[in-house]
Amino acid sequence: MTTTPTRPRATPSTPPTAGRTDERQWVGRGVDRRDGPAKVHGDALYTADRPFPGLTHGWMVHAPHARARIVAIDTAAARAHPGVVDVVTHDNAPRMAPPPSASLLDLSSLASRSRVEYLNTDQVHYDGQPVAVVVAESLETARYAASLVRVDYEVLPATTDFRAARDTATRAKQTPAAPTVSGTKGDAVASLDASPVVVELGLTTPAHHHSAMEPHVTTAHWDGDRLTVWDPTQGIDWCRKHLARRFGVDVRQVRVLAPVIGGGFGGKGSVWAGTLLTVLAARHVERPVRMALSREAVTRTVGARTPTMQRVALGADRDGRLRSVVHEAVVRSSTVGGGSEQVVAVSTALYATPALRVGTEVVELDMLPNTFMRAPGDATGSFGLESAMDQLAHDVSLDPVELRLRNDTDRTPLHGRRFSHRRVPDLMELGSREFGWAERGPGGRRDGDRLVGHGMALAYHPALTFEAHVVLRATAAGRVVLRTSAQDMGMGIATVLAQVVADELAVPLDRVGVEYGDSDQPIAPPAGGSTQTASLTAATVRAAERLRSRVQRLGPSAAGSVLDAVRAHGQDVEVVVGHDEGLRARAGTLRWIAETLWGQRRWQRAAWGAHFCEVAVDADTGEVRVTRWVGAFDIGAVLNAKTAASQLRGGIVMGLGLALTEESVTDARTGRLVGPDLTHYHVPSHADVPEIGIHLLGDPDPTAPRGVVGAGEVGITGVGAAVANAVFDATGRRLTHLPLTPDRVLGLAPEA
Ligand code: MOS
Repeated sequence: MTTTPTRPRATPSTPPTAGRTDERQWVGRGVDRRDGPAKVHGDALYTADRPFPGLTHGWMVHAPHARARIVAIDTAAARAHPGVVDVVTHDNAPRMAPPPSASLLDLSSLASRSRVEYLNTDQVHYDGQPVAVVVAESLETARYAASLVRVDYEVLPATTDFRAARDTATRAKQTPAAPTVSGTKGDAVASLDASPVVVELGLTTPAHHHSAMEPHVTTAHWDGDRLTVWDPTQGIDWCRKHLARRFGVDVRQVRVLAPVIGGGFGGKGSVWAGTLLTVLAARHVERPVRMALSREAVTRTVGARTPTMQRVALGADRDGRLRSVVHEAVVRSSTVGGGSEQVVAVSTALYATPALRVGTEVVELDMLPNTFMRAPGDATGSFGLESAMDQLAHDVSLDPVELRLRNDTDRTPLHGRRFSHRRVPDLMELGSREFGWAERGPGGRRDGDRLVGHGMALAYHPALTFEAHVVLRATAAGRVVLRTSAQDMGMGIATVLAQVVADELAVPLDRVGVEYGDSDQPIAPPAGGSTQTASLTAATVRAAERLRSRVQRLGPSAAGSVLDAVRAHGQDVEVVVGHDEGLRARAGTLRWIAETLWGQRRWQRAAWGAHFCEVAVDADTGEVRVTRWVGAFDIGAVLNAKTAASQLRGGIVMGLGLALTEESVTDARTGRLVGPDLTHYHVPSHADVPEIGIHLLGDPDPTAPRGVVGAGEVGITGVGAAVANAVFDATGRRLTHLPLTPDRVLGLAPEA
């Protein structure tokens, strides 16, 4: 259809109900991110940049022991230093209520990953735990004065060696934060023993840190019992509810603002010590406090990804058909929080098998609790399963794509549930075509000093949605405004929602405003678990339907477009989706739980992908360079071609870090991180990243509103295996310990 550029579809013959998905105008296009120019120009005010009258600055003092009791804290020298406002310790800090335990009925309970009662206890539970906060007129003064605080400890025995404590592991329980950690079908061990071909791998992956560009920072201001907090949280609503609970005030008294966020990757999904202690210090000194964490303070007080030990065993016929899959993982958690991660979930999703056993064990150490990070569980577990599949392909002399085709499934291998939509063979075809997989030639070809190899692996991430509330308003002045408390940590949610609104209401994109990042707006889910876009799209579509029907009822003036009708009406029209408070809020939550559980009984929804890559391995130095990458993905409907590709490309870059460089090293004797900074923790830089081709099926999921599944995390899954498989192809060495550092590639590292 043809439209004029200024007023698409706003002809008199077009009813206000136009703008359905079959007449898409904006959805799917690669629209530029709305927050892009301000960020690129340096105009965006991040939390630490935002001026605040009367501001003071906090700095934490960290315990240098994994287990200890504080005997005494001498703050006299720090207090006497000019410019110091006060020093907050467990001797003088206001009391906080203990954190809640996790519950599906109140998902904000997931915001407390740590049970430590910071500055309300004399007990130290992990190296780096804050034991004092110095508040001063300047950040520099606070930082210096923190070095003057003297703490006497009674050092207590601590368990900090993951490998040595392996035998203390206990079976993981399914929780809302880790729903897929165990299960069996058939007799997997007997089937394994009876299989003509068996592949068995023991693998390890190290701990990882999120390393978001913007370190954690909080500004807190109390006005009586009213609390205002600026914090780049991934979960504004969870943060607000958590703070209200911990500080004993009504949730309506707490406002959390996160208008600009410099990345999170899961590290800003929970409420960690820095946020709590800024609020606590502000209450204590009765002035606004800002605490901008150093990179070291972030890594010592914000939980991160567990290391894993994995065992993957595959039993198969000689033609490669699986008879049995066993995937077991051991993860590291803490005596004071954290929990399991769904490392083995990938094995309950990718391949048909008559017998399956997956299980997870947890070792609890005297360390900072682990938390969500960049496809928790799936990023590391896919390294295990997809490395083993590659080995199986080699052992039965099949192309790894052909092996995966032979084991494809349209039902979950564990429970036999249908997938809502799964086109893995199409993804492999698309990816291999774009990569030129068939023409890749044999592995181990020499290119100067380098050995060239190729690898592939599948990607998988489960798709969930959360309840989301929005307000949609069409104004008599000719604009539409969507309001939600959702936070945009850099993935483009505001841009994408504007596209959805524009299409649903058939209004030009530049007439649509999206207001977000403020808990005074309707409740929105966190930016986590790749759930945000699907959740908010569902709520936005519903709001648009309500608005259209309200406008239709306005009478004769409703003959034109939505905006024309509202303008003729002369008054704004506003609709609300969801109730933030009271009985109707409860009912909404129960409905969400029922719908989620009912949906999960019928089908499993997920995002899928297939990675293809080329590596060049230096035969002398063991350096691995990734030289080509193609990823083909099925994320359901694509709302914005540019931001979706960017999400997936970013995921692959994170996967390259996981594969080659990222490793948080802990001194096993002390439980202390070695080099808690970006000098020692190597995230990929531009020079490490080849051009990455992203190809999308763009096939809407039939069970999801507007077919949206979610793109955030699937990209990272499978990347570690794809690289390791390519290194195997190049060198003949099956590497099972990440990252693939030169010493490991050369076979010089002691076996982990
Ligand atoms: Mo994430 S690890 O869902 O931010």
